[in-house]
Amino acid sequence: MRLDKYLADCGAGSRSEIKKMIHKGFVTVDGVPCPKPETQLNPETAVVTLHGITLQYKKYIYLLLNKPQGYVSATWDKKLPTVLDLVPEEYLHFEPFPVGRLDIDTEGLCLLTNDGALAHRLLSPKSHIPKTYEATVEGVVTEKDTDAFRQGVTLDDGYLTKPAELEILKSDTISQIRLTIYEGKFHQVKRMFEAVGKKVIFLKRIAMHRLWLDESLESGELRELLPEELHLLEWEDTPV
Ligand code: URA
Repeated sequence: MRLDKYLADCGAGSRSEIKKMIHKGFVTVDGVPCPKPETQLNPETAVVTLHGITLQYKKYIYLLLNKPQGYVSATWDKKLPTVLDLVPEEYLHFEPFPVGRLDIDTEGLCLLTNDGALAHRLLSPKSHIPKTYEATVEGVVTEKDTDAFRQGVTLDDGYLTKPAELEILKSDTISQIRLTIYEGKFHQVKRMFEAVGKKVIFLKRIAMHRLWLDESLESGELRELLPEELHLLEWEDTPV
């Protein structure tokens, strides 16, 4: 790995700031001043200092985003803004991507990472990881719907959903609900309500696996996961 990439992965600054610091001789590798950004090193073994302080190498990034409406959960789109447009430059060189898809009009918990193994485990249909949503629904949501979702409902394409937990927060002509599903079919929550004759008019993901949205994050804001939050996403059982 190049020295300048190593420093960027450590969060030492932007690429141009890092180049300047290296050229000025502020960086040492294994105790030797190293003024060349293109110097190759082994990130597993090299000891790199900046202004005399040893850096901790970071390979993966884990970002918790409170996704606003109007952004596509993708790394690129022909015309629409993507969740990557909300990621500050200092994280972009890690090449994070969103773990799973939220619709453009869905808000809430969106995890971005460059850890492909973790993303695979979270997204694998075999993992059955819970995803919890809060929604506003047009129509009176009743215990009949709770029972139907517990049994499984048939979507428009004939698919029978796995048991899901529906909690009714407010039952009225416009209802408020909380729903936990253990799979991730396309537009699943919206289609489950369509299957019982109702329409989701607002949808927000509030949890994924054991990780909850940090409600102190404003819409569009993100932060790195805390070590204990990352731990919540790990498995103790056998790999999927
Ligand atoms: N279900 C939906 O219908 N939309 C989402 O964005 C997520 C789950």
